[in-house]
Amino acid sequence: MVEPSEVQRGLEDVVALESRICFIDGLQGRLIYQGYDIRDLAARSTFEEVAYLLWYGQLPNAAQLTDLRARFGALRTLPEPLVQRIQSMPLESHPMDVLRTTVSMLALFEPEETKPGASSIGGAQRLTAALPTIIGTFHRERSGLPPLRPRPELSQAAYLVYALLDRDPTELEARAIDVALILHADHELNASTFAARVTASTLSDLYSSVTSAVGTLKGPLHGGANERVMELLDEIGTPELAETVVKEKLSRHERIMGFGHRVYKVEDPRATILREWSRKVGEAKGNLRYYELLRKVEEVVHREKGLYPNVDLYSGSVYSLLGVPHDLFTPIFAASRVSGWTAHVLEEYQDLRLIRPTAKYIGPTDLQYVPVESRAP
Ligand code: COA
Repeated sequence: MVEPSEVQRGLEDVVALESRICFIDGLQGRLIYQGYDIRDLAARSTFEEVAYLLWYGQLPNAAQLTDLRARFGALRTLPEPLVQRIQSMPLESHPMDVLRTTVSMLALFEPEETKPGASSIGGAQRLTAALPTIIGTFHRERSGLPPLRPRPELSQAAYLVYALLDRDPTELEARAIDVALILHADHELNASTFAARVTASTLSDLYSSVTSAVGTLKGPLHGGANERVMELLDEIGTPELAETVVKEKLSRHERIMGFGHRVYKVEDPRATILREWSRKVGEAKGNLRYYELLRKVEEVVHREKGLYPNVDLYSGSVYSLLGVPHDLFTPIFAASRVSGWTAHVLEEYQDLRLIRPTAKYIGPTDLQYVPVESRAP
């Protein structure tokens, strides 16, 4: 048993549970989903296959994959009253706030899912299919774009592009988004997944767990970092200024978003893959500005701080090249990670134990109560 006096701030290096879903080798820079290396999955699979893999522990055969695609297509449509509620949300809201609130609201329309410990792969599929629709419905409303059609024939990646940009992606764009979705699908006990598992461990339901996770992903130290990377690039402007701007920030002890990781001590393998996609999409669009800026920022941060890029460094550049507004980057992350969150919640229900750590109390224990009228003003 861990001595109560040993505080692991941020639960760093604490092994909280056993899981079969995801393995990170932080020293070798490897990421494994259910036994498969992410590099292989990013090169050869699709998001649908990966979601299936996370939920069922094995890759789907052709019939199972066709079935899952059909299910996603069918489950994309939201109840009309929910669509109206999304459309009446304040247009200036951050899409992550809209997403968090709407996931929670969706549960009201699917009461079977709100029973204690309700654990169905159906719920996981519903949420995974619905997230792009939720984000797209809000974004279209605030941008004056026409309402969404279900488009069941599209893959999740192509549907996401259609939902957000009101156009079909090119083959290269669809593959770039598909790879980004594959790379973001799971990452062991990251903060949002842990939040989801903590909620599930109380025997609460899948939708509540995912609501907790969306709120946790929003933070700039987690999923919100990709949006901040693009703000940094806008601030830097040209590669020649990268050195000065980054050094100034470091001298003020500011964090450079998209760098550093709690688990990886080498380059995040997802960053390696996304760097290539940033270059490929940049070349196809005749715009390598982001890629070149990021390469320069990387060089300075590594030289000055010895830090490596993480998944958030290059993802935003790929989305920006497609025309996706910055505040939709983290919602895209959520649209992928929901597959991992739900896989972990289902796993939590299989071997449930209330997650409840302890705190080392450092306050007083013997203060005397003083009635309010006798307290010093
Ligand atoms: N920019 C500048 N310095 C950084 C840094 C960054 N992105 N990440 C870590 N550091 C520095 C810290 O300031 C600290 O330096 P110090 O020892 O001189 O004080 C040292 O590296 C260790 O950082 P620490 O905060 O203890 O590491 P962590 O494991 O808690 O942090 C992150 C992990 C991800 C929170 C952190 O790297 C970070 O804030 N990154 C930026 C946000 C980001 O990209 N998040 C997405 C993660 S996928």
